[in-house]
Amino acid sequence: MIKLSTLIALLLMSAFSALNAAAYKGQKIYVETCKDCHGGGQALAGAKNTRTWEKIMDKKGEQLADIHLSSKKAQASWEYFGDKKFTKDSKHLEDFLTEYAKDSGNVPACN
Ligand code: HEC
Repeated sequence: MIKLSTLIALLLMSAFSALNAAAYKGQKIYVETCKDCHGGGQALAGAKNTRTWEKIMDKKGEQLADIHLSSKKAQASWEYFGDKKFTKDSKHLEDFLTEYAKDSGNVPACN
């Protein structure tokens, strides 16, 4: 028989992961797409405030795409930022970046 305390712990854990699910999706995209050039995502996210990220990611990430498309150093990312895959990903990326923004008070988890 499962102990009550175990059950409560399990419930708490699943509630916590539901909360994090949206940002987690963005984090996964970050690791797959941005990490090679930018390194750890939580450090990048923590470099700006929530409002700055919202602006950069406004209109499906228009500004972020512009930053990369106008930089020769970011050439390897042009295909991605010019593609509709990025417009689809942009909402999740915004969730992730704002979740760990400088003023979010969120400490990066152990990963
Ligand atoms: C091919 C390498 C490359 C990839 C992939 C890439 N970036 Fe960049 N990124 C750059 C470079 C180079 C710059 C600097 C552009 C400049 O200022 O000339 C930059 C700039 C930025 C900036 C602006 C930094 C600042 O201080 O204002 C942000 C934010 C950013 N990238 C986020 C991302 C995110 C999020 C992704 C993934 C969706 C991503 N980048 C993917 C190379 C890359």
